[in-house]
Amino acid sequence: MTKRMMSSDLQLEDNEIESNIRPLSLEEYIGQSAIKENIKIFIQAAQMREEPLDHVLLYGPPGLGKTTLAGVIAHEMNVKFKVTSGPAIEKPGDIAAILNNLQPRDILFIDEIHRMSRHVEEVLYSAMEDYCIDIVVGKGPAAKSIRLSLPKFTLIGATTRAGMLSSPLRDRFGIMHRLEYYSVEELGTIIMRTARILDTTITQEAAREIAKCSRGTPRVANRLLKRVRDIALIKFDGFVDEKVCLQALKLLNIDENGLDEIDRRIIKSIALQFKGGPVGLETLAAAIGEEKDTLEDVYEPYLIQQGLLQRTPRGRMLTPAAYEQFKLDPPK
Ligand code: ADE
Repeated sequence: MTKRMMSSDLQLEDNEIESNIRPLSLEEYIGQSAIKENIKIFIQAAQMREEPLDHVLLYGPPGLGKTTLAGVIAHEMNVKFKVTSGPAIEKPGDIAAILNNLQPRDILFIDEIHRMSRHVEEVLYSAMEDYCIDIVVGKGPAAKSIRLSLPKFTLIGATTRAGMLSSPLRDRFGIMHRLEYYSVEELGTIIMRTARILDTTITQEAAREIAKCSRGTPRVANRLLKRVRDIALIKFDGFVDEKVCLQALKLLNIDENGLDEIDRRIIKSIALQFKGGPVGLETLAAAIGEEKDTLEDVYEPYLIQQGLLQRTPRGRMLTPAAYEQFKLDPPK
């Protein structure tokens, strides 16, 4: 392929690429095998009974494919897939309108469902349980409550914080799954698949190098692949082998453990500014200039999983492994 053809390829909008590389079927969806096995059975059973799938809650760190999996479920159920998010639904009327416009068995996906307002959440209780909602029409003494029945839909909720859901909401999901970080092998397979879709030639070894730096997360793997592919095109001849890949990752400032600049700042800040901790999350966020939620949802889970950081009741602390990996002196 010529450089010219490939560069026009690069002009695809990122969100366009995003929808192209998302798998559509369970067969194409890589990893999360225990969840897939379960979901496959529940889908078959629902279809055999000609019923909607029970409501599904997917939780776990960002970027692991909760939205993708929800789309796959809709595709497998052969129904429409309506996507919204907790903060986007402002009033009970908004959710009532969305629900009322669904067809039987359609899937409504609510991302960041923990960020929904209380009033909206309360509408969902009866919608999920009895497929109806009570709406109040009129004001003052003339106000009347009328019951609106809804199509039998499936709600798929996604959250990074299952603990922040109220128990009445959580209890209404019949199927709950926690998505796990992906193995290097699984990420390597995802990278090879994405490279094929993006028409990028990459070796297995290079895909593995990117996978090792992808923090167990397909979103990171696909993002790194796209940036490595840019660097390969501009600084080399477009072909991604191990040598090109390692140089590109270095240029992207990602170390051999997949830690980026912010990960390193977190570790060094705790070690040097806070004598190894414990340090409170807000203090740490201010010290490194990051959002508290980003630290908690994106950075910490991976550092904890890597055995570099601990959450204690008194704050965040480094582990002995962190001092060793960063060649820092542990506090006395
Ligand atoms: N892209 C993002 N997540 C994926 C997955 N789990 N399988 C295949 N492609 C993906």
